[in-house]
Amino acid sequence: MKAKKRKKSKGNIVLIGFMGVGKGRTARMLAEQTGKFAVDCDDLIESFANSKVKQIFSESGEPHFRKLERKIANWLEKQVRDTIVSTGGGFYNVPHIRKIGMVVYLHSDFDEILKAIQNHPNAKKKIRKRPLLQDLNAARALFEERLPLYRKVADIEVKVSGKSIEKIANTICKKAGLK
Ligand code: S3P
Repeated sequence: MKAKKRKKSKGNIVLIGFMGVGKGRTARMLAEQTGKFAVDCDDLIESFANSKVKQIFSESGEPHFRKLERKIANWLEKQVRDTIVSTGGGFYNVPHIRKIGMVVYLHSDFDEILKAIQNHPNAKKKIRKRPLLQDLNAARALFEERLPLYRKVADIEVKVSGKSIEKIANTICKKAGLK
């Protein structure tokens, strides 16, 4: 008799959320806490395209960048297992994101995010490298527009403001059943 095909969890955790909310730092802390590897979608795009995100936006346009995000999403879905994946702020919109793994939305208010970025010792660089943070009114509108969409696609939401990265990673571990 033919064995039944079972949907098997890939063991990946996909961190989504707005620019500057701390997806990369959280992914690295989760990697440390769980012993899994962490990868970052923007890093994967930059190495695939041999170009920085900022440069891809200015030379090829945002639609091309989104195409690269979808390409990375396909690769992650097919090839990557038991990994913590941090994403760019617009990655939530790739088709079938939940097929990659458990989707965790990191939430903070727009003003909190802005405050954290502006108080960072490397604030100028952090803002400069993000094309969609150049106009703060537009960024606020983008946040408002995306908020319900992040929540719609997420399996789990974790509030991050005022919490240490250790605490955030611990909460994710508990909620996602990693520990
Ligand atoms: C983007 C967020 C950026 C990067 C690109 C687009 C977005 O990543 O992917 O500039 O659409 O919100 P971070 O969320 O790491 O800043």
